[in-house]
Amino acid sequence: MPTILITGASAGIGAALARVYAEKGWDLILTARREAALTALAEEIWKTHGQTATVITADLADPNAPAQLVAAITERGLTVDGLINNAGFSRTDGFLTTDPAAHDAMLQVMLLAPVALSRLLMPGMVQRGFGRIINVASLAGHMPATGGDTLYGPIKSFLIKASQGLWLEARGTGVHVTALCPGYTLTEFHDVNGSREEVSAAYPAWMWQTAEHVARVGYEACEANRPQVTPGAMNNVMKALAKLLPNGAALKMVGGHAERLDRL
Ligand SMILES: NC(=O)c1ccc[n+]([C@@H]2O[C@H](COP(=O)([O-])OP(=O)(O)OC[C@H]3O[C@@H](n4cnc5c(N)ncnc54)[C@H](OP(=O)(O)O)[C@@H]3O)[C@@H](O)[C@H]2O)c1
Repeated sequence: MPTILITGASAGIGAALARVYAEKGWDLILTARREAALTALAEEIWKTHGQTATVITADLADPNAPAQLVAAITERGLTVDGLINNAGFSRTDGFLTTDPAAHDAMLQVMLLAPVALSRLLMPGMVQRGFGRIINVASLAGHMPATGGDTLYGPIKSFLIKASQGLWLEARGTGVHVTALCPGYTLTEFHDVNGSREEVSAAYPAWMWQTAEHVARVGYEACEANRPQVTPGAMNNVMKALAKLLPNGAALKMVGGHAERLDRL
């Protein structure tokens, strides 16, 4: 039975990916900070799919967490065949008014932890001739950066490019690498960053996707070894527009986004 490590599995897209992988016959290692939510999900997965889900809590804002997490997995005698770097959050108050510690945490959780976990776990996958890596990036990584959540888009662009490089390096090894780039998705994300009311008012229901849909698209894309996938037709139109428009016009497009959210 292959085993997949999913970060940020206590909610949203991470929990949805856990359910999809369990349904496909994978065992799971679930990590995040909230133990109770992870344990409830592990119990649900055992009851529904009969797959084992091991819970190991970690705060990925701690630079030592990736190595400690892998050590804890090894201590339990588990082998990691798949890795989903999904944990993430944003800050929407603007670059200068956000606590620098929050920016450090963003970079650590969403950029440095995925790099560290890939570096620690990918060699074993290559050696065994089988592996799956999904980096949960964002449509924001394909767009010009927005004011307000200034670092979020650039971090996600990094993940998309890093996934492309890993995909190239992994060709022919049996290891698949995919950057999953969702648009607006119904999860706890916008509650955590405090923008729920604004985004719900600014963006109609049809622009929102469910975490389950995003997870299924991500699973299929990684099985097909697509280096990048963006769920949803409208999100793909926006991605194409951002590529085709001259920089100035593309910046105006996302400038409109920041104004709608009353951030600038
Ligand atoms: N929702 C969207 O519209 C959207 C769109 C594009 C991309 N994404 C990306 O999708 C990914 C998942 O987000 P989501 O929408 O599912 O949000 P969510 O429901 O808020 O889930 C975020 C997950 O990340 C975990 N996490 C946050 N900080 C962490 C830390 N310091 N250490 C360990 N785990 C941490 C949370 O767990 P704990 O709080 O228990 O630690 C939670 O499990 C993120 O990378 C996000 O950027 C989301």
